[in-house]
Amino acid sequence: MQEAQRAGLATHIGVSNFNISKIKNIINDCKIAPELNQVEMHPFLPQQELFDFCMTHRINVTAYSPLGSGDRPDRMKKDNEPILMEHSIIKTIAENHRCTPAQILLAWALTRGTGVIPKSTNKERIKQNYDASLIKLSQADMAEIDQLDYEFRFVNGEAWEMEGNNYVAEKFWD
Ligand SMILES: NC(=O)c1ccc[n+]([C@@H]2O[C@H](COP(=O)([O-])OP(=O)(O)OC[C@H]3O[C@@H](n4cnc5c(N)ncnc54)[C@H](OP(=O)(O)O)[C@@H]3O)[C@@H](O)[C@H]2O)c1
Repeated sequence: MQEAQRAGLATHIGVSNFNISKIKNIINDCKIAPELNQVEMHPFLPQQELFDFCMTHRINVTAYSPLGSGDRPDRMKKDNEPILMEHSIIKTIAENHRCTPAQILLAWALTRGTGVIPKSTNKERIKQNYDASLIKLSQADMAEIDQLDYEFRFVNGEAWEMEGNNYVAEKFWD
């Protein structure tokens, strides 16, 4: 990727699903540091230590699956997994702000200082997701949402373990 940027083929280069030790490996050994790390991030998995580490090293963070990735394939789902958009704290804060739970989740991510990439195939929901940037959460709202850290991953990496590669999901994360 450094070569691609030097050759003018890439404007910005970054990484995805990097934990702290992997970032340390790369920044100790690179000429061009990654500008961004894209990782799963939402109130059930705020990854504060990774986020702080990235900020300290001037690496932006993009939060993927910010709404809980409800439409990923069934084989990636666990029985009885929690539903982020249906959590009572998220729903109550949404009612207080007269907006949707999805918008509260996105406003939380933006207020923390991450980028955020919700996926929707629905025109109204895409617009709604953009409009989440207008929502002003209070410190009390943020503190309440911050209580939801269950260290729960919707995308735990098992789907990337395949014959012929040496990926082991449990080694992906800190
Ligand atoms: N780097 C990586 O390894 C990695 C891994 C996973 C995902 N990602 C990326 O992250 C992005 C999003 O993640 P994701 O698709 O896993 O999950 P997500 O954005 O958390 O959730 C998508 C689900 O939320 C629904 N949704 C979207 N907006 C909504 C709203 N306002 N109200 C209610 N429901 C809403 C969508 O349904 P509708 O479409 O029907 O609206 C869809 O079922 C994607 O671009 C994906 O490629 C990256």
